[in-house]
Order: sequence, then C-alpha cells, then structure tokens
Amino acid sequence: MKYLVTGATGLVGTSLVNALLQSGIGVHYLTTRVPQNAAFPGARGFRWDPIQGTIDTEALEGVSTVIHLAGASIAKPWTKAYKKEILDSRVQGLAVLAQAIEGGKFPVKKLVTASATGIYPSDLEQVYAESHTEVAQDFLGQVVQQWETAADRWSELGIEVVKCRFGLVFSTTSGSLPAMVGPVRWGLGSALGHGQQWQSWIHLKDLTQLLIWCAAQGPAGVYNAVAPKPLRQIELAKTIARILRKPFWAPPVPSWVLRVILGERSALVLSSQRVSAQKILDAGFVFEFSEVSDALSDLLTPKR
Ligand SMILES: NC(=O)c1ccc[n+]([C@@H]2O[C@H](COP(=O)([O-])OP(=O)(O)OC[C@H]3O[C@@H](n4cnc5c(N)ncnc54)[C@H](OP(=O)(O)O)[C@@H]3O)[C@@H](O)[C@H]2O)c1
Repeated sequence: MKYLVTGATGLVGTSLVNALLQSGIGVHYLTTRVPQNAAFPGARGFRWDPIQGTIDTEALEGVSTVIHLAGASIAKPWTKAYKKEILDSRVQGLAVLAQAIEGGKFPVKKLVTASATGIYPSDLEQVYAESHTEVAQDFLGQVVQQWETAADRWSELGIEVVKCRFGLVFSTTSGSLPAMVGPVRWGLGSALGHGQQWQSWIHLKDLTQLLIWCAAQGPAGVYNAVAPKPLRQIELAKTIARILRKPFWAPPVPSWVLRVILGERSALVLSSQRVSAQKILDAGFVFEFSEVSDALSDLLTPKR
C-alpha cells in the first residue's frame, strides 16, 4: 500500500508523512521544490508545479490513496496575483492529478483532501455541521468552495472522495498558535476585536491521526476536522496566558485597527465559525485532545 501526499513539506504534511512512515505505509510525495529525500527517509519525492500544470507521473505508480494538502500559504499578503496563487495551487493541484489519473493507468481508489472551516459564513451563534450549505461570500469562502468542487470531480473517475474541513491547526512549529502565543509571552495577550468570535481548532497530532483514519476507513463525504470543543477568541487568549502563567490585562485590539493593518486578511482573526465535530465522532474517530487546555498544555508546557 502506498500513499501520495502533496504539501508534504508543510506543517500538516511533515507530521503526516512521518506518522505514515512509522506505521509502515509507503509514501510518495509531490513538491514544487527539489525533493530532499533525506527529509523523509524511506519516502520518495517527485516534482510538480500545479500552476504550470506539470507533474512527474511516476509519483502515482502503485499509489492507492492521494492526500492533498498543497496550497500557497494564506498568511502572506493577499495581492491580486497572490490570491490567484492561493486558489490555483489548491484547485489546479487537484486538476493536474486528476488528469494524470484519468487514463486509468494508476491504481488510485481514494482521495483525502484538505479543506477549511472558512467555507462557513462568519456567525457568532450558529453551530456549523457539514450539512450546512450556505458558503461564506468572502475570498476564503470562495476558495474553499472551488477547492471542494475540484475534489468532487474525482468521484467521476470512480475515486472515493473524503474532504476534511480543517479548523485552526495547533502546533508550536508554525500556523496560528505561535502568532497568538508571541504577544502573551510578552505579557500582551488580549482580545482581538470584541473577542467573542468562535475559534474552531484541532491539535496537529489529532489532525494527523484523523487524516490517517480517513485514508484507511473514513467513508466518503465531508468532515469537519475540528476538536469537539471550540471556544471564543478571548477565552482562547486567556487560556494561553493561564498556561504560560502570564498576566492577561491588555485592552482589546480594536477590529478597525486589525482591518487597517491586515486588510482583507483580518478575516483570519476576526471571523467566527463555531464548527461541530459530531459527524467525525459519530463515525468513530477518537480525539486525544478534546479540551483546549489539554491541547495547549501539551504544546506549550516544557517536557521533562
Ligand atoms: N494550518 C492550518 O491551521 C490550516 C487550517 C485550515 C486549512 N489548512 C489547509 O491545509 C493545508 C495544509 O496546511 P499546512 O498548514 O500544512 O500548510 P503549509 O505549512 O503552508 O504547507 C503547504 C504546502 O503546500 C505546498 N505549496 C506551497 N505553495 C504551493 C504552490 N504554489 N503550489 C503547490 N504547492 C504549494 C508547499 O509544499 P512544497 O514547497 O513542498 O511544494 C507547502 O509545504 C493547506 O492547504 C491549508 O490551506 C491549514
């Protein structure tokens, strides 16, 4: 059994590839850089460029499952050209792979793709299950919708499609948590805007296991890849401060300041999605970290 992972060199991909290799699953990965096989001993790297439409199709030899995590980072400034790259790297990536698989030469049976909770409209009260059909009208909502549509096209090739809508992935390496922790360490933890926006999060370890579970036994469909207990931003900031034993006194950062500094990207910190994990729980997935305090203690407390 062999899996092909795109975006393997990223935050989630690195954790996933290492876990797959440890459990004895063969891994091929696609990268836009020169493959550094030393990065993943035992895995084989191949080149592609979704935006240029190029791919080394040897990457698909013997592959039963594709796990698609690739995508240009949304943390960089959203210029018009870069917005196109954010969209194309995700959507074209799926299209380039589908085209290579179309001829029936490769034994691919399943696609597990990253997606994001940003597909749900920002709302301070609504609890979002996967059955919710309204899509956020902002840039991220539109990207995620097109990303999922590109994934759905794989079912026309007879491939089972599993879409995982990731919440904020908590890790100390990169992603949103280090950005939140930095000010708290300086004693400057505070609410962002009114702080009442919901943050739906997942520990990187749980997300890694969830992707492996989806690849091995997850039924086709869409799943919210979030821990069972989302919380409001101010509570998250206070929990980080408590775990780091830092004061929490600074005044909130007004929304308008964040909008001036971040522009459209302020949606990343101000939008509110209270997302339900019920479907994945009902399907039998067991979280190691359901409580945010356990997840943050695991990540932020020095290990003995
Ligand atoms: N982290 C989160 O909190 C979070 C939340 C929701 C959704 N997601 C989504 O989950 C996926 C994985 O997240 P992550 O945090 O692991 O992302 P990441 O650390 O930014 O890694 C993404 C990977 O995508 C590849 N990539 C970058 N630009 C590319 C381009 N133009 N064309 C093709 N590939 C490109 C890179 O691999 P190479 O350089 O090797 O090509 C990179 O390692 C992403 O699609 C992300 O949007 C993440």
